Amino acid sequence: MQFEFIKIEKQVVKGVSLIQLNRPKELNALCLELMEELVHAFKLLDQDEETRCIVLTGNERAFAAGADIKQMAGRTAIDMLKIDQFSKWDSIKKTKTPVIAAVSGFALGGGCELAMLCDMIVASESAQFGQPEIKIGVMPGAGGTQRLTRAVGKALAMEMVLTGKFITAREAWNAGLINRVVPVEIYLQEALKLATQVASMSPIASQLAKESVLKAFDSPLEEGLQFERKNFYMLFATEDQKEGMAAFVEKRNPDFKGK
Ligand code: CAA
Repeated sequence: MQFEFIKIEKQVVKGVSLIQLNRPKELNALCLELMEELVHAFKLLDQDEETRCIVLTGNERAFAAGADIKQMAGRTAIDMLKIDQFSKWDSIKKTKTPVIAAVSGFALGGGCELAMLCDMIVASESAQFGQPEIKIGVMPGAGGTQRLTRAVGKALAMEMVLTGKFITAREAWNAGLINRVVPVEIYLQEALKLATQVASMSPIASQLAKESVLKAFDSPLEEGLQFERKNFYMLFATEDQKEGMAAFVEKRNPDFKGK
């Protein structure tokens, strides 16, 4: 498939593939076509055995400034229901491979929601996060009221959603929304470094660990604990578990094969 609104680079560093949003003039506004390409790219990379971690980025000025307002402006509620643009997000959510967002500049509305859909966020000092939908007469529709609230708590989430205020990368880090804030010159490099670390682990263990952490968001504690336990036991069916534990005993680095 040819991509028009995104770029993909497989194995940008060992075990890591990169997806770059590529509508710079529109600040990477997430039009339907871009989202379709993104769904396809995530599926492709999730099936690629060499890809053990995915980095999603935009450019220095914008990660993404939200859903495409111009594309949505004239739609009716029935159009919105029929198009159901956010169903694309459900598909991206199913990506088993760990995903790291490398964010610089604007991460607004759907852009902030897309970053929050990723498993970790590395941000440049110039990054700004916000849910400004209220200023255009609507509200977040792709997780902004839910994932943001779970990440930063009610007080800050409510203020951001009700006033549309942006927060800086430093504020986002203090609030627990993101993993790292680094100078703009190295934000992508840092994200790739973190991705390389993730990619060096057993990919089966990483996938089950990711699935288990995410389970904590939508299940009661006891159910989550049972889920975690079963995943832990299941990993004893892998060669990587034997290799990882043997390497520890033999005082050497493990060589995980993803089997
Ligand atoms: N949709 C469509 N086009 C967008 C866009 C968006 N979300 N954000 C920016 N653009 C376009 C602008 O229209 C402009 O295009 P033209 O040059 O053709 O006029 C171009 O990108 C550059 O933007 P600005 O000239 O506005 O740049 P700026 O530096 O002055 O301002 C900004 C930057 C503060 C991010 C401003 O563009 C802005 O407020 N954008 C909209 C942010 C927003 O409201 N996002 C939420 C969208 S709704 C949503 O996301 C719903 C959801 O839950 C998924």
